[in-house]
Amino acid sequence: MSIVRFGVSIEKELLDELDEYVSENHFANRSQAIRQLISKNIVTRKWECNNVVAGSITLIFNHHKRQLLKKMTDVQHEYHDSILSSQHFHLEKELCMEIIAVKGEASVLTELADRLIAIKGIQHGKLTMSRAD
Ligand code: NI
Repeated sequence: MSIVRFGVSIEKELLDELDEYVSENHFANRSQAIRQLISKNIVTRKWECNNVVAGSITLIFNHHKRQLLKKMTDVQHEYHDSILSSQHFHLEKELCMEIIAVKGEASVLTELADRLIAIKGIQHGKLTMSRAD
């Protein structure tokens, strides 16, 4: 892979924010941070199309919330073709974590994750994906 240099014009305030981001995340330099930001944003958006990816959906929730588990199961059954497995962890007395392993078109997995995360009672949810084609 060849490295290309290019100039960027940027507001002073934004540059200060970039430098803060560089030091907070322990990047070696601005270039490394910018490369990471570009790949995180542009490459992730490319996944929004039909590339086959594999990943996981992590959900944190309180299992006492009414109907929550039923709704989670209903949505997962709708997407059974995309789900490889799921595992439930009892984190604390009432707090649970479920990790769902998924594989399929990125757009479908994004839709599935959005639907699960939107269920009332889900406290945190996150989808991670890697290319798998
Ligand atoms: Ni539990």
